[in-house]
Amino acid sequence: MKQSEFKKRRKHLMQRIGKGNIALIGSAAMQTRNNDVHYPFRQDSDFYYLTGFNEPEALAVFIPGREQGEYILFCREYDEKKALWEGAHAGLEGATKHYEADDAFPIADLNDILPGLLENKTKVFYPMGNDPELDHSLQDWLRKIRSQSRKGVVAPGELVTLDLVLHEMRLIKSAAELELMRRAAEVSANAHVKAMQVCQPGLYEYQVEAEIVHHFMQNGLRAVAYPSIVATGKNACTLHYTENNTKLKSGDLLLIDAGGECDHYAADITRTFPVSGRFSGPQKLLYQLVLDAQIAALEQIKPGLPWNLAHEASVHTITKGLLELGLLKGRLKKLIKDEKYKQFYMHRIGHWLGMDVHDVGDYKVNQEWRLLEAGMVLTVEPGIYVPADCKGVDEQWRGIGIRIEDDVLVTADGHEVLSSGAPKTIQEIEALMQAG
Ligand code: GLY
Ligand code: MN
Ligand code: MN
Repeated sequence: MKQSEFKKRRKHLMQRIGKGNIALIGSAAMQTRNNDVHYPFRQDSDFYYLTGFNEPEALAVFIPGREQGEYILFCREYDEKKALWEGAHAGLEGATKHYEADDAFPIADLNDILPGLLENKTKVFYPMGNDPELDHSLQDWLRKIRSQSRKGVVAPGELVTLDLVLHEMRLIKSAAELELMRRAAEVSANAHVKAMQVCQPGLYEYQVEAEIVHHFMQNGLRAVAYPSIVATGKNACTLHYTENNTKLKSGDLLLIDAGGECDHYAADITRTFPVSGRFSGPQKLLYQLVLDAQIAALEQIKPGLPWNLAHEASVHTITKGLLELGLLKGRLKKLIKDEKYKQFYMHRIGHWLGMDVHDVGDYKVNQEWRLLEAGMVLTVEPGIYVPADCKGVDEQWRGIGIRIEDDVLVTADGHEVLSSGAPKTIQEIEALMQAG
């Protein structure tokens, strides 16, 4: 992503914060795996959104209207030995030159410099409760300023969570963000096609997972957006199953929920298909029902409609279908009112999608479901799960878990499915698997 995009975001943020106030946001920290080995570094999404700076041990400060510069970056100083062992890092010069900070200071000097920047500001915006170290440091800095009040300096009196401003910005995706999200969804959808092509009885779930991750990596998606779920047979009824170590059997379904990350933007796609390449009778009936529910939900994705309508449409379709198939008994209206469908469809229709797979942004505004707006991206992912030990349902349905999940952009006059590259009708899936 170009630096100009980050600059635009910072400008927008400064306008929202207003003169006389200050905002702080820290980077993610390295996480230890064991001894001196770390997990791969993933920058904090809020921090990256504003800075494009992909290093730990950094803190960004935004002070609208500050004469010497509004954007200050604290980061690690350049260290030749570190560069030799761990690779490139920007240093103070890189922070100003490449990342366009107006000022850069060593992170080691944070405690000496930051109280001075906070002096006489009215509000401090920061991601409250997100980073215990920053929460704690802020209290120390404020205490330090208060202790000097006789000199005439005033400590900020209001602490405001930065989320209120920043997450509203992140909820509406720019053209540059959509380019990355399209790429993440396209590559991830093709990885699902790959999985359908290689799938056969006798493989282990992790071998199919390997194909998917291989496809992500080969196409530049260097990280998974979340641990891949590759769940065959009854494993698919465990919503967040990630063991991925069962052998595939002919006659079972395979549910794959996997998405890659493209330059910090996620895809989140689920497809469910038969290991043998052909759906059985009962699988077909439940699968078609989930697909009908997804299509009904997608019809409710357009600007101006409340976010919840898609969920309600999926609930209606699934409950009606389960009643017709005999998995639920009673009257449709009452079954919906009593939420009886939750025995088989226990999650909601989806979530915002962006830099985080479960992305930021409120779902309700003033206690009302939020209206969809162009530029929002969300998942639409109904499912039906009948546990293997489910009582009171015919044996033919037991141990079947199905979810179909697409990534959907709200457009000016409707929506666009970003993940449409992965087939989802019964005919398309069977044709693809038999061609392979
Ligand atoms: N992959 C997590 C979810 O679908 O929400
Ligand atoms: Mn998913
Ligand atoms: Mn999802």
